[in-house]
Amino acid sequence: MIHVCEPVLDGLEKKYVMDCVETNWISSAGKYIHLFEEKFSQYCGVAYGVACSSGTSAIHLALVALGIGPGDEVLIPDFTLIVSANAVILSGARPVLVDVDCETWCIDADQIEEKITPRTKAIMAVHMYGHPCDMEAICEIARRHNLYVLEDCAEAHGAEVNGIKVGSLSDASCFSFYGNKILTTGEGGMVLCQDETLAQRLRLLRNQGFQEPRFVHEVMGFNYRMTNIQAAMGLAQTEMVVGKVERKRWIGKIYNELLADQTDFTLPIEKPWAKNVYWMYGILVNKSFGLTKDELMSTLTKKGIDTRSFFCPMSLQPVFKSDDHRFPDTSGAYPVSVDLWNRGLYLPSGLGLTRSQLEEVVEKLLSCKA
Ligand SMILES: Cc1ncc(COP(=O)(O)O)c(C=O)c1O
Repeated sequence: MIHVCEPVLDGLEKKYVMDCVETNWISSAGKYIHLFEEKFSQYCGVAYGVACSSGTSAIHLALVALGIGPGDEVLIPDFTLIVSANAVILSGARPVLVDVDCETWCIDADQIEEKITPRTKAIMAVHMYGHPCDMEAICEIARRHNLYVLEDCAEAHGAEVNGIKVGSLSDASCFSFYGNKILTTGEGGMVLCQDETLAQRLRLLRNQGFQEPRFVHEVMGFNYRMTNIQAAMGLAQTEMVVGKVERKRWIGKIYNELLADQTDFTLPIEKPWAKNVYWMYGILVNKSFGLTKDELMSTLTKKGIDTRSFFCPMSLQPVFKSDDHRFPDTSGAYPVSVDLWNRGLYLPSGLGLTRSQLEEVVEKLLSCKA
C-alpha cells in the first residue's frame, strides 16, 4: 500500500528526545519548548510563538486571547475541517459560513462582506491543502470593518503570499504539528503573533491562568501545554523545514507533470501571488472519467493506493443540523464547497515518496477510467 502520508523523522529528533529522557525534562517545562517556539516563529518571520498541545487548542487559545466570545460572530469557510467551527463554538462565539473560491479552495474574499454583521469580530482564513488564502483582499476587508484576522496554517507551513510566509499575515496564526503535517511533533500546535501583550495572554491562558501568587487565579485558562519531548521533535523538524517544504513542492510538480495531458481531473493551482506547498495533492474527478469520487477511491484502495476524501462542508454536517443557537446557520447555499466534497480527494503526498511511487500512483489512477 502506498499510504496517503507517513511522517519522516530524518533529523535530530531521536537525539533531542533522548536528551529529554536522560535529563528527566519530559513535561511542559524544559529548554526545547523555548527553542522550538523561537526557531519556528523566526522561520515564519513572526516575533512570538506559543507552543501548545494541538492545532485545535491553538485556534481556541487564539480566539479567547483576542477576547472573542459569547455574542460574537467569526467568519469561517464552509469547506474546512470541522475544527474551524468547533473552536469558534468552544470560545462561545458563533461561526458564520462563507463559501470558498473554486480555484484555491480557500474562503472566497468576494463573499465575505455580505456575511458581516455588527456582531462580526474576526475572519478565519484557512489555507487549504497548502494553497494560501487571498490575504491581501481579506486583510483589506478586515481593516475597513475593524475585524481581527486569524490564519489557520495547519496545512500550509512555508506557504507564501507575495513572497511573505503565511502565519505572519494576521493578528494571530495557528499551526498544527499532527503526524500528517509538514512538520510534526506527533500531536502539537503553535500560535504566532507580533504583539507582546497578546503573546503573554496566550501563555497565561495556555497554563490554566497560573499567576503570582500561585493558586490564585484571575482568569480562566486551559491546560493546552506542549511537552518538552514534543518540542524536542519540533525543533529537530524545524531545522529541516526548508527541505521539507521544497520536497512537498517537488511532489506537487511531479504530479502536475504526470497529469498534465489529461482532462478527467481538475488539478490544484498556484495563483501568481501564491506559493503552494501542496500539503496534500488534491484533485477533483470530472464527469468524463466515468467514476464517482467514492468509486475511484475504493478501486484505488484495491490497487494498493491510499487516498482521502476532501472535507465534508460545515453546511452539510449532521451535527449542526439542529436549532442549537451555538451552531452555524447551515441554511444557505454553498455550491463550491459542496462540489469539492462531491468530487475531491487527495493522493499520497508523504514527504518520503519517491518518483517511481508517484508514477505508480498516477498509472493506477489513470487505469481506473471506466
Ligand atoms: C485546517 C486544519 N485546521 C486545524 C487542524 C487541527 O489540528 P490538530 O489535529 O493538531 O488539532 C487541522 C488538522 O488536523 C487542519 O487540517
